[in-house]
Amino acid sequence: MRFKQTILCIIEHNGMVMKVTTSGFLDTGNIMIIPVFEGSNKAPNNATTNLSRSASIAVKSAFASDSFTGKAEESLSVWTKNCQVIIIGMGKKDDLTAKKSRDTGAKCFASLSKNHGTKIVVRYTSGWKINNMIAFTEGMILRDYVFDKYQKKDEDDKGPWSLIGQTAERYESAFRSAIENVYSVATGVHLARDLGNEPANKLYPEEFGRRALEWAKDKSNVEVEVWDYNRLKKEGMYGLIEVGKGSIHKPCMVFFRLNPNFDIEAEVPCIVGKGITFDSGGISIKGSAGMDEMKLDMHGSATVFGLFQALYATGYTGRVNGITCMAENMPSAEAYRPGDVINTYSGKTIEVLNTDAEGRNVLADGLWKAGELNPSYIIDLATLTGSVVVALGHEATGLFSNNKLLSQKIQNVGDEVDEISWPLPLLPAFEKQMTSSKIADLRNQGKGRWGGASQAAGFLKQFVQERENVEGKSQIPWAHLDIAGTAGIWGGETNVTVSHGATGVQVRALHLLITQG
Ligand code: BES
Ligand code: MN
Ligand code: ZN
Repeated sequence: MRFKQTILCIIEHNGMVMKVTTSGFLDTGNIMIIPVFEGSNKAPNNATTNLSRSASIAVKSAFASDSFTGKAEESLSVWTKNCQVIIIGMGKKDDLTAKKSRDTGAKCFASLSKNHGTKIVVRYTSGWKINNMIAFTEGMILRDYVFDKYQKKDEDDKGPWSLIGQTAERYESAFRSAIENVYSVATGVHLARDLGNEPANKLYPEEFGRRALEWAKDKSNVEVEVWDYNRLKKEGMYGLIEVGKGSIHKPCMVFFRLNPNFDIEAEVPCIVGKGITFDSGGISIKGSAGMDEMKLDMHGSATVFGLFQALYATGYTGRVNGITCMAENMPSAEAYRPGDVINTYSGKTIEVLNTDAEGRNVLADGLWKAGELNPSYIIDLATLTGSVVVALGHEATGLFSNNKLLSQKIQNVGDEVDEISWPLPLLPAFEKQMTSSKIADLRNQGKGRWGGASQAAGFLKQFVQERENVEGKSQIPWAHLDIAGTAGIWGGETNVTVSHGATGVQVRALHLLITQG
């Protein structure tokens, strides 16, 4: 018996709706993709099912031709009357990894044109393993993203894509539920990208808070609370206040709570985001080259928001806390200055040596607050330093942690979903630099430029609270992810799941970390 085609998930994104379904080898669509392995000199079983006789002959000849051998990066289009058939080389079957599958799916999707129709079919024929099919499909779904809300709509817009993944019957139910999960997580990735891509005149701290409240409004197991400027003052959160007070858009702190009433005594994760909606540098102003990219300086917070969407959409039933520290770093008559001393929420003071080292100041309050929420662990995400980009380029997120087990887990999930986190050191010497101010408890800049990412991490560590446990007193397990190099794509960088702008990085990795328990 042939199984029926089932609609899995429909997502609305900027008014576009992509429909993803799975089925057996039925419909051909108007674009049919057949990814195959090296040595495929004849069409695999099911490859040509339901094509017209003449189309089927053309596709079979293409497989038999010398111009296609199935090596990686090879592809061949066969134009038939109703359907463009694209044969894609995946290389040797035994060498195929999830990453290679995901990247090929993304690249393949990027090469498609709607001129020939919008109904895509992907046929996973002989030799395909389920994890690789999932990853290939995931690559396509992740890549199906554009930020075009500020552009005039195309007159002859052909509407959204639909995607059918076709497999042998024995895989279908496992494939379907995996894709359902992938798709739900992707709604979080795409949300994080939307937030990251929004220009700073459209998305400022209060607007981020407003969007979070609106997101939570019709969801019964989600709570969002916004602490506005007055509340921050009342709480003594001058890390956030000092950084944000130079802007007409005042700072705020946004709390995300998923399943807030579940197991309220238990320790649960708390994820903290840096949310500088624009980083001009403040009085220590940046140069103008590339300053526009600093609208992305809230990607840590965008990832937190996107992560909560992903957890919500996949139906995660555990409790999770999130905190985003939102401010705009601007120069003005009211801005904070070099030489100022900040009284943070923790009671510790910071001497400001450079107003452009603002992320650490706002995170000081967010991290201390996170320590009050009985967390199992704290993870912060921040586009924190140019220095981490020097160290790791755009290939990996910088990972700092006071806990080996947590660090290892973050590396493992990162490797699995291809959002690599690379461990960098938290050395006592860096902490010493940051705690050697002559007039305050801390200074917000190190003693030189070397090891800037580690200096910043050494600073943040001072705001992770200690607590009693069986071995006495020790710091809460904490990890800091410096995503300055991985949050955005401005040139021809290597993350092929994105064409331009915000990447939504770490939504998928942290979703896996939290849901795998
Ligand atoms: N937001 C920047 C870091 C950044 C740089 C993010 C490049 C994305 C791409 C951060 O606030 C910053 O300005 N850091 C300074 C710190 C320095 C003044 C101690 C830096 O890294 O230069
Ligand atoms: Mn800065
Ligand atoms: Zn910044």
